[in-house]
Amino acid sequence: MKVNTTINGMKRILDVKPDEYLLDTLRRHNYLSVRRGCDTTSCGVCTILIDDKPVPSCAFLSVRAEGKRITTVEGIPKEAEKLSEHFGATGADQCGFCNPGIALSVYALKKSQKKVTAETLKHYLTGHLCRCTGYQSQHKAIKEYLGDSNE
Ligand code: FES
Ligand code: FES
Repeated sequence: MKVNTTINGMKRILDVKPDEYLLDTLRRHNYLSVRRGCDTTSCGVCTILIDDKPVPSCAFLSVRAEGKRITTVEGIPKEAEKLSEHFGATGADQCGFCNPGIALSVYALKKSQKKVTAETLKHYLTGHLCRCTGYQSQHKAIKEYLGDSNE
């Protein structure tokens, strides 16, 4: 089946199987920043943006992407690099496996122009599990980052 989408600002026609999820379709089309973690909508590692909203791609049927705008971390290189540098500078960086999904949720929060409070942050990051350690340093770094980048 053919599905018409826009991925990272470019029109793309994806060849999809009827029962395929976007995680597999995107990886097959070389969007390799979209990673597989749990495959059961629990970890957030596979997060992408669909029409600017964070969505776990392991649970989104590819046929439902018809007419949608998809963003992967390849589509926000500057933003992802800035956040990654900030993680490094503040000691919040770890193995980085979960970073692409987190970068997309942080970008979505920033674009939403909602006030960044501990509550909004928790709301946007709650679906992201990090296997490396606790979340305090990540959340603190992201709050600082959004404060700075919103100025
Ligand atoms: S791989 Fe999709 S939520 Fe874990
Ligand atoms: S930094 Fe390693 S899984 Fe999150």
